[in-house]
Amino acid sequence: MSQRLVVIGSQWGDEGKGKITDYFACKADMVVRYQGGNNAGHSVMFNGHKYSLQSIPSGIFNPATVNVMGNGMVVNPVSVVAELQKLHDQGITDYQLYISDRAAMVMPWHSDLDGAYECLKGGKLIGTTKKGIGPAYSDKYSRVGLRMGDLLEPDYFAERLKAAVEVKNRELEMLGLPAYDFDKVFAQYMELAKILGPKITDTSALINRYLREADKKILFEGAQGMMLCIDHGTYPYVTSSTPSSASVPVGAGISPKWIDNVLGVAKAYCTRVGEGPFPTELHDETAHEIRERGHEYGTVTGRPRRIGWFDGVVARYTSRLAGIDNWALMLFDVLSGLDKVKICTHYELDGEIIDTPPATISKFARCNPVYIELDGWKEDLTQIKDYNDLPEAAKAYIRKIEEITEVPVGVISVGPDRTQTIIVSEKLRNF
Ligand code: IMP
Repeated sequence: MSQRLVVIGSQWGDEGKGKITDYFACKADMVVRYQGGNNAGHSVMFNGHKYSLQSIPSGIFNPATVNVMGNGMVVNPVSVVAELQKLHDQGITDYQLYISDRAAMVMPWHSDLDGAYECLKGGKLIGTTKKGIGPAYSDKYSRVGLRMGDLLEPDYFAERLKAAVEVKNRELEMLGLPAYDFDKVFAQYMELAKILGPKITDTSALINRYLREADKKILFEGAQGMMLCIDHGTYPYVTSSTPSSASVPVGAGISPKWIDNVLGVAKAYCTRVGEGPFPTELHDETAHEIRERGHEYGTVTGRPRRIGWFDGVVARYTSRLAGIDNWALMLFDVLSGLDKVKICTHYELDGEIIDTPPATISKFARCNPVYIELDGWKEDLTQIKDYNDLPEAAKAYIRKIEEITEVPVGVISVGPDRTQTIIVSEKLRNF
């Protein structure tokens, strides 16, 4: 039977999933993205080069790995072609990539609408990436969207596109935005189909074939983070998909029974881009220090990320929702040099101590973190290869996270390179 590993972000995105996925992708036969789109910005660093991926799976650098963009994604063909071109320019020319014929397609008007909806919200912006992710998912669920497989049937695509352009132009007109010309969009997408067409297929069938083979290792690569989940995140300051292991079966087209190994990626502290409540947020010199040391600026938008202490309430919540078996604790080296480090164990809300996040952002915004404070450590961790060689204070910090969340730390990342990764869990070492 195959081995499966699901890698998900457990905070507000940008936890370092790209690096961890890339680490395991080197050993994987298949890497599958199953939700989100090019709103993700996965940085992968190896051989001294930094690569940035948006919608393409992180296994793309290994010629032997099959990369799949699953049906649960929203795929922007313009951006996929641009991403592939950029990879070509960086010398990445030998890869295997397949795109689900059932994946929703992001159309040019989706990013226009994303921007316009944000403007209509006045001061209450979500701070989206403006990639059109929300409008593309909305069209999917309203059953007016186009799908990647439509590109393979020009007549059918023309029919669906005509209907979509008619509806969307009315909407764009109401918002004072320029309309789209059917012929121009059709011609552009037929050109894209020439490049992407050979990669579009029934990816569920492909994944299921691999699942049944004894020697195959399959990695499911989540995007964003659980606190941006449309159902369980800080709604409405969320993305439009479910960045959880729970999305894998639907978004990849497999049975839920295959999911048995979930790695929750968490920074050793917390960050968030865009708006929304963030109880452990720091506004002092420590935040500045962590931001600069951790290069905490958005990969997609370049925005400075908001910084806070590790939030144990969020970690407990996301591990409960996603069935996290191990944590991958990222950017651990960034905390070196601080006199004291803090971990949030509970929130205080209107005079009461609570141990799980409230449902509304109005309550969430009133939550005050309850911290435990631990001694920091001064040592540089970036060359450490073995858990036992970590300073005692760093080990105590890890043990406290394990105690608060009741989930073991299976991976510790002490630098951006693949080699700067300490694997503690036996099961993960054997993947
Ligand atoms: P959208 O996904 O572009 O609709 O943006 C909705 C919210 O999710 C915004 O706050 C974004 O900043 C955030 N977001 C979307 N994708 C990512 C990501 O990959 N990392 C971190 N935040 C993200």
